[in-house]
Order: sequence, then C-alpha cells, then structure tokens
Amino acid sequence: MELQYQLGFGNEFAVEALPGALPIGQSSPQLPSYGLVHEIVSATTFTAPRHLNRRTHLYRIRPSSAQPAMEQTNIELFLSAPFARAPSPNQLRWDPFDFPEGQHDFLASLVTVCGNGSAAGQHGMAIHTYLANCSMVDSAFSNADGEMLIVPEVGDLRIVTEFGVLQAIPGEFALIPRGCKFRVELLGDQARGFVCENYGVPFRLPDLGLIGSTGQANAWDFQTPVAAYEDRDVATQLVHKFAGHFWTVTLDHSPFDVVAWRGNYAPCKYDMNRFVILGTLSFDHAEPSIFCALTSPSDGVAGPNAEFMILPPRWIVSEHTFRPPGFHRNSVAEFLALITGRHEGKTGEFRPGGASLHNNWAPHGPDTSSFETGRSSSLAPQWLGGSLAFMIESRFPFSVTDAAMNRAARQTGYIDCWSGFKKRFNPRSAAPAVSAPR
Ligand code: FE2
Repeated sequence: MELQYQLGFGNEFAVEALPGALPIGQSSPQLPSYGLVHEIVSATTFTAPRHLNRRTHLYRIRPSSAQPAMEQTNIELFLSAPFARAPSPNQLRWDPFDFPEGQHDFLASLVTVCGNGSAAGQHGMAIHTYLANCSMVDSAFSNADGEMLIVPEVGDLRIVTEFGVLQAIPGEFALIPRGCKFRVELLGDQARGFVCENYGVPFRLPDLGLIGSTGQANAWDFQTPVAAYEDRDVATQLVHKFAGHFWTVTLDHSPFDVVAWRGNYAPCKYDMNRFVILGTLSFDHAEPSIFCALTSPSDGVAGPNAEFMILPPRWIVSEHTFRPPGFHRNSVAEFLALITGRHEGKTGEFRPGGASLHNNWAPHGPDTSSFETGRSSSLAPQWLGGSLAFMIESRFPFSVTDAAMNRAARQTGYIDCWSGFKKRFNPRSAAPAVSAPR
C-alpha cells in the first residue's frame, strides 16, 4: 500500500484515520469519538516560545499508562554517553562494518561508535550503526534520552510509529522524536546505516540569515506520516531507554493504536537529494555551514550541540582555486559518513558505509594524493555526481567506544594518508601574487 505523507517541518498537522476522530473546537472532550482516549505528548517546556514549542494531542485506543510496571534489563542494546575512553585528538576512520552472524533486528543490531555529553544530562549525542537482517515483530522501542535520526545506507526501512508509518530508503533520513514508540521493519534482506541519537534540544531547521527564506533544506520537503493504527490484542514487548538504561514490559496490545492526532511534534523523513546546495560561483570556498540541514543549538559562538549537514551531488565551478576541501582545524568535532560515491578530498579508501571522526582541533583535509591532484587538475566545471555524504558536527568532543576502536573495520593506518607531503617552500622563488582571475 502506498504510504501517505503531509508536508512540512514542525507544522501544526491534524490527521485522523477515522472520520471525525479529532474533536472540533476543543482538545479534551468528555467523551471522544469512537471511545478513544486523549493523551498529550509535550516535548518542550510548556512555556517555550511558540515557534519552538513542540507538543501533540493523541486520540488512541488505550492510554500509554495502561501497562504493567517496566523492569530494568541487564542487556546493553547500545551504549550511552559518557563513555570511559578519553576523546582522541587523532584522526579516525572506519570501513563499513560487516554484518554479524545470526538474526538481528534493528534494535538488537545497533553498535555504538562514539558519543559526547551525557544521556542523563540531556546534552550531546551518540552515533550508532545498525546492521539488521530481520524485522522487529510484535515489539516496539521508545527512547526518552534522545530523538533518533536514522540514515539508511543499505536497504529500505518501513518504520511503524505511533503517528503513522513512514518508509526510509538510502538517500533519505528519518527523524523519530524523543519518546515516540516505533518499530523498524526491513523491506529487503539486510539493512545498514547510521543513527544519531540526539540528547540535546530537538533538531530544527537552521535560520537562513542572508540566504533568505528558501534554500538548504526546505520545510516543505519534509514528509510526515498520516495517522494509522493497529487494533491488535497481541503480546508486544516494549523496550524503553531512560537515562542510559533499558527497561522492558510486555503489553497485551499493540502500542501503535493512535487513531488521530493533532500537533507539531511528529516523526518525519527527508530526501537528502532535495537539499538545495549553495556554494561559490567565482572562487574559493563557502563555509561548511552551507551544508546544514538541521541543528540542535547549544551556543551561538562555541558551536552546536549537534548539527546534521548534507553533502549532496553538486557542481564545482570555482576558478583559480584549490577545489578539494582544504587543510583545516575546527573548534567543533566532525563525524563524516559516506552514503554513495566518493568524497572529493579522499581516495578510494573512504567507501560508502564508511565513516571518519575528526575531533575538535584535529588537523585534517585532503590526503596527499588528493592534494597533489587538486594542485594540477583542470578547473573546468565539474559535476560531483552520485556522491552523497553527511556530517554531524558538535562543539563537544566525541569519545569512541571500545567496540568501534577494536573493530576490524577501523583503518589503523588512516593517518598515513597525509604522509609524503612534498615540501615546496623556497624563500628565493616568490611567485607573483595572483588574485581573482579577471
Ligand atoms: Fe573537516
């Protein structure tokens, strides 16, 4: 069945799977239609400024409180920051992780790569990969610690949520709000991708400043599911993450029983190929902030809690310019992953499904061969086709988990890509200063 979506980000949506399920003129009638119950989900403080306030009214078959007490589990499905290992100032890179033996659904397959801040302290994030080969069945997950931004790299996902059903394929991302119950089904044999678990304030669209009212990720390109419900009295295992720990309870019904909802707090998805990329039309480079799709702010000067950047296919037209991303050191940390194609500043060692981490102030940039190529390559207009990458930035240093540090996929010789730099400095051979090409 073709899924239906409504367009926008943070909009006041109003959807019902049965006609008349939403009350008119009030939110909490004494007797809601169809014998439903009213439940409010508030994701920001009640008095948050109107444009940042996030809450949704649900009309469902049973209230979420109609469940037995949860029991803390002794299983660590995935890890929460802070991690014991000190953040490394060294450059790190991984090949795509191999799929494990046995059957693993989305939740069971999550492997934590790195993180910062604190899940219980409600700042920072964790970055995970998933390596799934089966669907979640009669089970659900909810995460009180953070929203989950899911970025498929292999395999299509069907994500069932309290708010409806959405499908996410490679090239898209799905954003599951904090506290939202969901399950992930596979539409193929395998699924691999990344998850950013944002402990901080909810992701939102960045202000555009001088860009104007449109550009980068346009609000109308975000797709939010319409209401869809399951009326199934079947045993369902709900796993709940809270303050870094996992709790579980067996329900006697499906928790996906919301028949109608109204509000501005809901899951969504976004096709990263719709990102309107901006850049120089003359020479040099624009700052990487042109790649920002979503931001979880922290400090306007020191940097964001988390920022999700999209590097889509694009034209490179700058003249008289060293075109690959140049050598740099940043106050913020950068986690970069490749979905398809190749990265313009890296050789073939950086493959789709792979990722790199350059912590705060870690020096990085083009590897030696890309640097040499960039010095002599033609400056005709170049189409970087078939290339899609994303980057997550944070002001907070990332700690890497033992699982990721010890993984065979970690490229222990990554730093060698900058070896062999050829010194060309000669104080007796000043070249004439040449500026813009006209
Ligand atoms: Fe960088």
